[in-house]
Amino acid sequence: MENRFVMHLVLFGLLAGFVLTAYSWNKTAEANGGVVQAVNHIETENGQDGAAAPSGEEPAAATKKIALTFDDGPGKYTEKLLDGLKERNVKATFFVIGLNAESHRDTLKRAAEEGHLIGNHTYNHVRLIKMSVGDACTELRNTNELIFQITGQRPVYVRPPYGEWSDALSGSCYMTRVLWSIDPLDWSIHNTEQIVEHVVEHAKDGSIILLHDVFEESVDAALEIIDRLQQMGFTFVRIDQMGENPKIHVN
Ligand code: NI
Repeated sequence: MENRFVMHLVLFGLLAGFVLTAYSWNKTAEANGGVVQAVNHIETENGQDGAAAPSGEEPAAATKKIALTFDDGPGKYTEKLLDGLKERNVKATFFVIGLNAESHRDTLKRAAEEGHLIGNHTYNHVRLIKMSVGDACTELRNTNELIFQITGQRPVYVRPPYGEWSDALSGSCYMTRVLWSIDPLDWSIHNTEQIVEHVVEHAKDGSIILLHDVFEESVDAALEIIDRLQQMGFTFVRIDQMGENPKIHVN
């Protein structure tokens, strides 16, 4: 898929080069007067055709959607992240652990108040498929109840720990499962630049980025990722603004 992106870049570059050349020929023709009138006419037409294509592609580039998701918080770096998101006017999705929500109530409340989407990452970071369906649903329901008490939002999205989920859980717990498409393993590498490079290299329309706001390197990386990807024409959205996506599974 990256090849396709590179192809587009190359084609765009060629096209832009052609338009510029056509434009300068046009200018030369104008300066030379009527002798080159016929040539001028042809080049102007080609220039117009050439100009139409990139301007037609620009809106598409501006609507490339991408989602930042943060697991395992809230934690002690979440406030720093919220400050950075606010500065950049970017909304994200937080899949919080119930236990951490208990100990960082104000942070979670702030995240919700500032327009971020709050999702469920279980109460104790458990492996849902290793439990009975009834216990798993109770774990999710208790977490939803806590999040509702703190934020007034009742979560509909769940990020199951380790991505472990089943059709039985979908059928019984009535939550929408959200996986991810870009995983820089931030929790393991703890290196801001490597996290940023991995995400920027793999970013495409519809990507869901997985990060953990309990690590400072991940928070720093997230803010740098936003700056880099916005320059590349990406718009950051919450999971509920993503539209249909293979990583988002509704029952
Ligand atoms: Ni987790």
